[in-house]
Amino acid sequence: MEIFKTKASLQAYLQEARSTGQKIALIPTMGALHEGHLSLLNYAKPISDIRVCSIFVNPTQFNDPKDLEKYPRPIENDIRLLESVDCDILFLPSVDEMYPDKNEVWHLDLGELDQIWEGEKRPGHFQGVTQVVYKLFTLVQPDIACFGQKDFQQVMVIKRMIAMKDLAIQLAICPIIRDQDGLALSSRNARLSEAGKRTALALSRSLQYVKDHIHDAIPLAEIKDKALQILTDTDGLSVEYFALCESSTLKEVDHIDFSKQHVALVTAWVEGVRLIDNMILNNLSN
Ligand code: PAJ
Repeated sequence: MEIFKTKASLQAYLQEARSTGQKIALIPTMGALHEGHLSLLNYAKPISDIRVCSIFVNPTQFNDPKDLEKYPRPIENDIRLLESVDCDILFLPSVDEMYPDKNEVWHLDLGELDQIWEGEKRPGHFQGVTQVVYKLFTLVQPDIACFGQKDFQQVMVIKRMIAMKDLAIQLAICPIIRDQDGLALSSRNARLSEAGKRTALALSRSLQYVKDHIHDAIPLAEIKDKALQILTDTDGLSVEYFALCESSTLKEVDHIDFSKQHVALVTAWVEGVRLIDNMILNNLSN
């Protein structure tokens, strides 16, 4: 695996690859890698020639400076993991390399996507995400960009940005990787005790409950109440939001229109850790 720390060195390498017609996949991450991240690299393998993984803890997407400071940076282990899945290139820039202009201004009109759910709870977060991802897109000019469904709203935001900026990038949405009990993998899980991990299973159970019942002849509101009860009946868990939404707008619905895709979103706190999860409720056949 080649490791590049500067934009210029990465660009020079990729220019050559591109001139020989190689297909480039970009997998942006903030490091502290786990099987979820590695699944994106594996997803990209058969559909690209060169996989570029970036590790950059992006300061502009953190609302809380303490959160940014606390973010784990186990780089040696990350390198080992990337090598284990034959990653071709690691881009590992510094903050100065990514943000040479301290006064850089960025704003992308994401409409309501920026104001609901994660957007509401973490003001400015998606502006920071789009700012850095746009920089990475411009730099790498990937044919394919891989993102995890785990951060569902983030994927919708990136999709919107690709459309707005008219970028020739194929967006690959990769499935959520869970542990054998159903807990969605996240670097934050390391902060949970074993008991906390068991408590956190209520998230996926509540989502699965909705998915299992959407074809029942009972109002969606009742299904939602029962699913929510799974969460509220769980000691040590506090729900931030639980919503059943149409996938592309993330607007809440009171019934499922089976001609559109829907998703259940949940965010809850366990042992001081904020956990997010989601599940697609109906797959469209076309
Ligand atoms: P990070 O949290 O490191 O996640 C990097 C990618 O891994 C994201 O696309 C995320 O959805 C995916 N991912 C995380 N856990 C996953 C799981 N259990 N299953 C499948 N995919 C999973 O998301 C970010 O970084 C940043 O916002 C970033 C896009 C890199 C911009 O800074």
